Formats: sequence, C-alpha cells, structure tokens
Amino acid sequence: HDHVITSKHLSRADIETVLDRAAEIAADPSAVADRHAGALLGLLFFEPSTRTKMSFETAMKRLGGDVVDMGSVESSSVKKGETLADTVRVIEGYADALVLRHPKEGAATMASEFVDVPLLNAGDGAGQHPTQTLLDLYTIRENAGLDDLTIGIMGDLKYGRTVHSLAYALSNFDTRQHFISPESLQLPREVVYDLHQQQGGRAQLREHETLEDVLPELDVLYVTRIQRERFPDESEYRKVAGEYQIDTETLEDAGDDLTVMHPLPRVDEIAPEIDDTDYAAYFEQAHNGVPVRMALLDLLLSTDGGGGDE
Ligand code: CP
Repeated sequence: HDHVITSKHLSRADIETVLDRAAEIAADPSAVADRHAGALLGLLFFEPSTRTKMSFETAMKRLGGDVVDMGSVESSSVKKGETLADTVRVIEGYADALVLRHPKEGAATMASEFVDVPLLNAGDGAGQHPTQTLLDLYTIRENAGLDDLTIGIMGDLKYGRTVHSLAYALSNFDTRQHFISPESLQLPREVVYDLHQQQGGRAQLREHETLEDVLPELDVLYVTRIQRERFPDESEYRKVAGEYQIDTETLEDAGDDLTVMHPLPRVDEIAPEIDDTDYAAYFEQAHNGVPVRMALLDLLLSTDGGGGDE
C-alpha cells in the first residue's frame, strides 16, 4: 500500500492528481457521499490538533466512511508504556488507513514499516506535514496559481514542519521562494541543500531577515507560528516571540493581489484586522483541508488503481 510520509518525493503529477480530484469533489461532494461506505480511518494523535484531526474525520465521513480514534495519549495505553510500533500494528487491524501525528521526527516513517494499510503522516515533530502541503498548494493554485509564483514564507522556518513540506513540494513548479526569519530560526541547512539538489542548482530561493524589501514582489505571503513547544530552551523562544507579526500597516506596500496564508493556529502573527481584507485566505485554506483530504483518502482507499503519493 501507499503511504504519505513526506512531500520530498512528490512529483508534479502526484500533486496535480490530488488537487484535480479535490477540485472535482469540491464542485460536487454529493457524487462521492457513499463512495467509501463502511471504510474506517484510524486516528492516532499523540499531539494536539484541531484542523488536521477534524478535517480528516469530516473527509472520511463525507466519503461515507467513519473513524476510530485512539483518543489522547492520556486516555490510551500509550500511558502504560505501549510502543508506537505495537500501537499501529494493533490499530491497523481495526481500520483501512491510519493517520498519525507524533512529536518525534521520523515517527511516521518508522510506523509505516510496521503496517500494510496506508499510513498518512499528519505531522512528525519538526519534520513534515505533507497533507497540509496539499491543501496549501490547493489554496495557492486557487488564489495565485502555482507557476510563475513568488512566495514569501515567514516565521519559524527551523521548527515549522508545514514550511519544510511546502518548500519541497513547491520545487516542482516555477516558483521563487523567499524565506523570511530571524537568523536563529532559518530553514535547516539540509532542507536548503535538498532544495538546491532537487532543482539541479537552479533553485530560486533567497533568505531574508526582514519582510519589507521583498513584500512588494510577493503573490503569496505564508506566515507561520513560532513553534514554542519545539524549543529546547524557553529563553530562546522569548528572544524571538512576537517578531514577524503582520497588520494592515505592515502590508501597506503589498501588491493588491497578495494572498496571505497561515496553516493555523495563529497566536499573534496576523492581526485580526487582516481577517476582513481581501488578502486573507487562511480560513479558506483550513476549509480546503476537507476536499483535499477527501481526494487523498479516495485515491488511497480505491481498489481500482487510484494510487497514492509514494
Ligand atoms: N494546520 C494544522 O496542522 O492545524 P492543527 O494543529 O490544528 O491540526
């Protein structure tokens, strides 16, 4: 079976297959309302989630299926010391596919080696969040188009898994990527290396510490939260907390067609006054999680040769 663990190896064709199917489903969700009746999706969330967990549940139910949910770490036998390998081996016997979020980078890769049903990585520590990337790409395609795109990705680029996944996936398109962060939260060097490798040394990426120089050229500004829970030292977090916030004044020099995105949850990175402007696409982005995850689940669960990403 296919697993969805990282966006690193997604091809343009893989991405377009999912996005096209998501657009079809969004246009006529009733056409797939019973398509996976009786199928069960196992939810294993070892870390908090609102959007990813609930949109996977919504997606599965809108395809006619249902979910079985491990619940929180506190209420499960993880609390008694059960290993992740044992947990996934048990739950694969209950469900047709598994969704895993875990605080450890690499957890989804490891878990996928123990199961035969498709396993979808819903976030592994500071690693990857590939299904978020698919809904991000869907939102970018709807608002700005994926080719000839200039995107600014701002905030915590070190620990932000949505950023790592998105940067890899965007390499498949004609995209100029500007990374804006404090020096201490730059994109990991291995990600920069990989991006250059992937693009044959032609990578159109630049790194900045401030937004203002690059803002006027941007089609999309992708803002992220500083990932407080990933900092080994709280004092390091406090040094950068509150930087890289945007409000209507910050966006004064932005192009009229700028699209502002954020994977959410936000803390204080985007002032609420931006919510009612034409720039804001972050709630639409969160809602796109449903058709995109419906498309992905449909492709993975279909026995008629749908196929997945890896
Ligand atoms: N964007 C995202 O992953 O949100 P949750 O943590 O609420 O799932």
